[in-house]
Amino acid sequence: MRQIVAKTVLHRDVGGDCAAMHTRCSQSRVDRGAAANHCCVAMMKAAVMSGYGAPSVLALRDVSAPAPKDDEILVRVRASTVSSGDARVRAANFPGGFEVIARLVFGWTKPRQPVLGVDVAGVVEAVGKTVVDFRPGDEVFGMSGMGMGAHAELCVISSKGCIARKPAGLSFEQSAALTFGGTTVLDFFRRARLARGERVLVNGASGAVGVAAIQLAKHLGAHVTAVCSARNFELVESLGADQVIDYNARDFADGREQWDVVMDTVGNTPYRRSKRALRDRGRLLLVLATLRDIVTAPWFSWTSKHRVIAGPVEERREYVETLAELAREGRIRAVIDQEFALERIAEAHAVVDSGRKRGSVVLRVS
Ligand SMILES: NC(=O)c1ccc[n+]([C@@H]2O[C@H](COP(=O)([O-])OP(=O)(O)OC[C@H]3O[C@@H](n4cnc5c(N)ncnc54)[C@H](OP(=O)(O)O)[C@@H]3O)[C@@H](O)[C@H]2O)c1
Repeated sequence: MRQIVAKTVLHRDVGGDCAAMHTRCSQSRVDRGAAANHCCVAMMKAAVMSGYGAPSVLALRDVSAPAPKDDEILVRVRASTVSSGDARVRAANFPGGFEVIARLVFGWTKPRQPVLGVDVAGVVEAVGKTVVDFRPGDEVFGMSGMGMGAHAELCVISSKGCIARKPAGLSFEQSAALTFGGTTVLDFFRRARLARGERVLVNGASGAVGVAAIQLAKHLGAHVTAVCSARNFELVESLGADQVIDYNARDFADGREQWDVVMDTVGNTPYRRSKRALRDRGRLLLVLATLRDIVTAPWFSWTSKHRVIAGPVEERREYVETLAELAREGRIRAVIDQEFALERIAEAHAVVDSGRKRGSVVLRVS
């Protein structure tokens, strides 16, 4: 197994406070130097959140590196994204009804895990004792799950989690940009049992989830209508959209047209609005749903000719494997709005906060 020391900290660097440093070290993986006058501490750079709030709560800091448990892999992160999910947690801007639940999960007054980031693309640095699927040196991409922590030089991921080998022809940045939207869409399309020849409408078609939805729906043989602002028509058509609707010019739910599947990534299409846009046996996919939407979904599904599907997505390894295969075959491509170095983390969050990003905002980490 490779040594996981990210940076050597000399005795004099810590003002002689070796004992304090060693205490901290023993909580993470440490390789203490043989020489009496220095310590080798696994340290790394990470974008750390001091509390909930504006992007300015984020700053680059030196923190102790994580160590993989027996069934985990340690990844040297080359690229990640600032997803809409990261921006939500940073701002404590949770969907309606989730405010208390989310704070119980993420931390009441400040985040329990101060390093955000779920999308990971990088190189396996070290593996736990029981890991057989990956070896140091493997190029991988996937998601770190609820543990987050990808906005750092090193990140741990369960070896059985949502992680796969990165296709050789795809950069780390492209791989990271595919993951958040791609896995979300694959999970919702699986639950909706999207079939060849069906008509799909994607509301919010130019965001990370939207650009994945257009491409994956086309791959599955659907007819796709993209709803976005006029400035994004060219983008969504280049991804395969058959029809585009400018939300500033027309309400897709005006009853003039119907679809088999309506996917809402914006949060302005609850069932009471979208039912006019659904064919019989149509499915409404509420990617952004309030607690009320989730609780009432089974009721609408039971009492109407439609099905409402809402709630968090599962992170399955098969999703990243599918994305890798489709990207390798050139059937899907990453859409990157902008790339930022890790030290520009606050600027990256500000772009995501605008609510107008195209595809993904990528972080170049190391
Ligand atoms: N259920 C889950 O587990 C799950 C998983 C992933 C994501 N999500 C949620 O899904 C949402 C979407 O994520 P994302 O990353 O795709 O967001 P995003 O990238 O920020 O999407 C922004 C896009 O929405 C479009 N938009 C804004 N207002 C619109 C309107 N009124 N009508 C149509 N389009 C509009 C914008 O296009 P224009 O610039 O053209 O306006 C922009 O391209 C987020 O809220 C996220 O939290 C949920």
